Amino acid sequence: MIITENIEQVRRERWADPGASWGLVPTMGALHDGHLSLVRAARAENDRVAASIYVNPTQFAPTEDLDAYPRQLARDLDLLRAEGVDLVFTPSDAVMYPSGYQTYVSVENITRVLEGASRPTHFRGVATVVAKLFNIVQPTRAYFGQKDAQQTVVIRQMVRDLNFDVDVVICPIVREPDGLAMSSRNQYLHGETRAAATVLYRALMAVQAAFARGERDANFLRALMTDTIAAEKLARPDYVSIADPLTLTELETISGTALCSLAVFFGKTRLIDNLILEESA
Ligand code: PAJ
Repeated sequence: MIITENIEQVRRERWADPGASWGLVPTMGALHDGHLSLVRAARAENDRVAASIYVNPTQFAPTEDLDAYPRQLARDLDLLRAEGVDLVFTPSDAVMYPSGYQTYVSVENITRVLEGASRPTHFRGVATVVAKLFNIVQPTRAYFGQKDAQQTVVIRQMVRDLNFDVDVVICPIVREPDGLAMSSRNQYLHGETRAAATVLYRALMAVQAAFARGERDANFLRALMTDTIAAEKLARPDYVSIADPLTLTELETISGTALCSLAVFFGKTRLIDNLILEESA
C-alpha cells in the first residue's frame, strides 16, 4: 500500500495503468466500519482503490472541533491495508492550502438549509476539498455515505454543475447494534450520554413507524421527532426536518420520497442522522 502526501506521486500511480478503474474514498480518518463499508464497495467495483485521510480545516468553523477531532493515522493505515487499499493520500495543510491559496467552491441554494443553516461555511469547505481530491486522484468512481445526506446532495450537485468526470456512489448508513449511526464523533460520548445518543435513531424509527401506518403530514412527523428528543434530558435538538430529497426544501405533505433528518447536541457534541421515507410501489 502506497502512503503519500505528494500530489505528483498520486498522479503517477493513478496513471501508471491508464486502463485501470480507480475508486476513491475521501475521509477525515478515525476510521470505523462506516468508512470501511465505503472501502469495501470501492474494492468490489474498481481495479484500484485510493483513500484519503485529511482533517480538512476549511469545513470547520472557528468554534468547532478541528483541534479535538480524533487523529489515529497508524491505526487507520492498518485498517486500510487490511481492506486491500492500494494508495492512501495523507496530505498536509501546506499541500492542500499552500500560502496564497484563494479559490473555493460554493454550491448555493441547497447549502443554506439544514446543516448549512447551522454551519454556514461547512459545505464551502467540503465542496472545495472534494473538488481538489477529484482533481488530484481523478477517480473513476467516488464513494460517500448516506450518513451525511446533505453532503451527498451537495457533491452530486457540484459534480453536475462543474462537469466532473466521476461517478458518485452513495453507500447505506452503518449503525451500532443499538441503532446509533457510526461516527468518528461518537468517541466524544461516554456513559449516560452515549446511551442518550440513541435518541436520534429512536426518533427516526418513530417517524418510520408512523409513515408505515400511512401518516403523510410532515408537520406531524417533525413534531414526533421533536417530542422524542424532548423526552431525553441530555439531548438538545438543533433541527428536525422532513424535506424534498433533491431540493432539501421542507415539505408540508409527503408524496413520493422524503428525506427525514435531524441534528442533536449532547453537550458540545453534535450528532446527525437521517432516513429516506419511500412509498412502496
Ligand atoms: P468523514 O466524516 O470522515 O466521512 C467520510 C465518509 O464516510 C463520508 O462519505 C461519510 O458519509 C461516510 N460515513 C461516515 N459515517 C458513516 C456511516 N455510519 N455509515 C456509512 N458511511 C459513513 O465526510 C467527511 O469525512 C468529509 O466531509 C469529507 C467528505 C472527507 C471531506 O472532507
